[in-house]
Amino acid sequence: MELEKIELYNFRNYKSASISFDSGLNVVCGENAQGKTNLLEAIYFCVVGKSFRATREREVINMQSDIAKIKVFIKKNVGKSIIEIIFSRKEKKTVKIDGIPIKRLSGLLGEFNGVFFAPDELKLIKESPEDRRRFMDIDISQTTKQYVYILSRYNEILANRNKQLKQNISRHDLENIISIWDEQLADYVQKIKKYRQNFVISLLPYAKKAHEFITDGKEDLHVEYVGIKEDTKEEIINKLKTNLEKDITLGYTTYGVHRDDIKVTINDIDVRSYGSQGQQRTAALSLKLAELSIIEEITHTRPVLLLDDVLSELDDSRKKRLLEYCQGTQTFITCTAFNYPDIKCNKIEIKNGEWSKI
Ligand SMILES: Nc1ncnc2c1ncn2[C@@H]1O[C@H](COP(=O)(O)OP(=O)(O)OP(=O)(O)O)[C@@H](O)[C@H]1O
Ligand SMILES: [Mg+2]
Repeated sequence: MELEKIELYNFRNYKSASISFDSGLNVVCGENAQGKTNLLEAIYFCVVGKSFRATREREVINMQSDIAKIKVFIKKNVGKSIIEIIFSRKEKKTVKIDGIPIKRLSGLLGEFNGVFFAPDELKLIKESPEDRRRFMDIDISQTTKQYVYILSRYNEILANRNKQLKQNISRHDLENIISIWDEQLADYVQKIKKYRQNFVISLLPYAKKAHEFITDGKEDLHVEYVGIKEDTKEEIINKLKTNLEKDITLGYTTYGVHRDDIKVTINDIDVRSYGSQGQQRTAALSLKLAELSIIEEITHTRPVLLLDDVLSELDDSRKKRLLEYCQGTQTFITCTAFNYPDIKCNKIEIKNGEWSKI
């Protein structure tokens, strides 16, 4: 998969721009506040149909305009396609593939695959398990539609169970009602665990390889699914039963896949608690690079890679190794300065929403 060209009209600080890219490394240089992240935002918009930063989508329309447009030209394994997104202040945005509007954003799935990484992604390692669950869920959903349904049913039943726990009814009635929820919940717990476990297992070799490459063999990364121990439906139901007393006291369900996590270690040391800033960043990056390979394995085409501001916190050796690692992938990387004369790349300078080749 390759992004050949992007056209922007009144998108953020771009008035009108048409930028062509190389199939390898594309370096987007410029001072602060010139439009580098805006460009990646526009590209990634066409991957997922959403912004990675705008809370209100209208934000992306240039302040002096009422309409904005992104148009990307994609070369696929076989054939080409054009994705177009039109924003208006008055109406909902329109997404078109080859000129035909799509009804749901899910219609974009598989049309243009990409992985995005920004400094903020460090939370994948640093913050709460919720961020790591989201990472698993988003990835599994991208390739397994069934999973989206399973996960939403699980959350629904869990919410009902939690509501029930707070009701003031007799213990006998409560146990009866809860046992019905548990019967259903256990099915989904079992399925979600399997999906997540398999996901982490398939992620591991790719993440290890990427990390080993970037650190030049100095660090050994390991990722592991940390979740419930129980596998069979009976075991899960029993565990829910054993925990009921505690659940009633606390007013919520204490056992289930909503508490899953991924443990990330480097040379057997927990990165979240003991990793340095650079190690955490490298680990998060390796997980994202692994994501790229997983999508490639399933879709048989390499997604594009979008790296916003990642060079700033890595040491020189890691920076260089990362850039080398990206050679086989169409990559868009933003930075304020790029001084690697021996790295082959297409260098673009962005200045106040306008671009030039350097
Ligand atoms: N809707 C909009 N209309 C006009 N300008 C906008 C709009 N939204 C954002 N901008 C402007 O775009 C500029 C560039 O933003 P961007 O985040 O792309 O900068 P950047 O080049 O990534 O900078 P940095 O190096 O600081 O990350 C900002 O000055 C911002 O004010
Ligand atoms: Mg930026």
